[in-house]
Amino acid sequence: MKGILLAGGSGTRLHPMTLASSKQLLPVYDKPMIYYPLSTLMLAGIRDIMIVSTPADLPQFERLLGDGSALGVRFTYRVQPAPDGIAQAFLIAGDWLAGAPCALALGDNLVFADHLGLSLRAAAGRAEGATVFAYQVRDPERYGVVTFDETGRALEVVEKPANPQSNWAVIGLYFYDHRVSDFARRIEPSSRGELEITDLNRFYLEEGSLQVERLGRGCAWLDAGMPDSLMQAGTFVQTIQSRQGMLVGSPEEVAFRMGFIDAQALRGHARRLSKTELGRLLLELADGVHS
Ligand code: G1P
Repeated sequence: MKGILLAGGSGTRLHPMTLASSKQLLPVYDKPMIYYPLSTLMLAGIRDIMIVSTPADLPQFERLLGDGSALGVRFTYRVQPAPDGIAQAFLIAGDWLAGAPCALALGDNLVFADHLGLSLRAAAGRAEGATVFAYQVRDPERYGVVTFDETGRALEVVEKPANPQSNWAVIGLYFYDHRVSDFARRIEPSSRGELEITDLNRFYLEEGSLQVERLGRGCAWLDAGMPDSLMQAGTFVQTIQSRQGMLVGSPEEVAFRMGFIDAQALRGHARRLSKTELGRLLLELADGVHS
């Protein structure tokens, strides 16, 4: 399975912070925001990842992430010329995907959960259909919203409904089978002029192959798209890391735990970050202080 990391948009809800910088490069505590969804894709076992961003911002991502070899993965970079919707990523990446199944992670979404890796790898391993994750929020009208029948089967997905029929938001992490680019080509622009990811999900829902996994108590899903949520995300990461000494959203850690890099390579990352607490935690990991 391949992965797409979408880091586009103009970040208008974070102006003036995003006037001169990409939203997905802003710090979430001690790391650039994009590290978190990147770690999520890697935790799913995905090693071939395309980063899609605006013409102005893409070079910054290349500077930050390089070709991926230091993490035992491969990065490809491609421009989204205009913010025409999340599902457009599958048209932009169509030739690169060449019919491969694909996961998509939004560059401002952070998810943290016990046993997350297992759920992600199960989703990545499904041969047919699509898997998305839902999370209960107090402001569902800001998101794609999913409703369920009494047996827990997904009934409907609606993008930013004025009167949400449930408080289950669809998070920005999606797993699709090999037909994803074909479905994406059939989507028409919505009233806000975008190719909606919710419309893509609806294709799968209507043929009965959309699996919606509910993330329950004990999981954190944060989107860092507004000043308050950006700060909450940072505080959350700081709390876990300083209290437990466990890293959140470190692609170096995930690369090591997934066996993409060895302890020596991890020590190299730790050395480059030696003036930071993050570097110290990576070194402890390489030395086996944390299991
Ligand atoms: C997008 C999707 C929405 C999803 C959300 C998750 O919203 O359109 O369905 O719930 O991401 O962050 P947007 O960021 O475009 O407002």
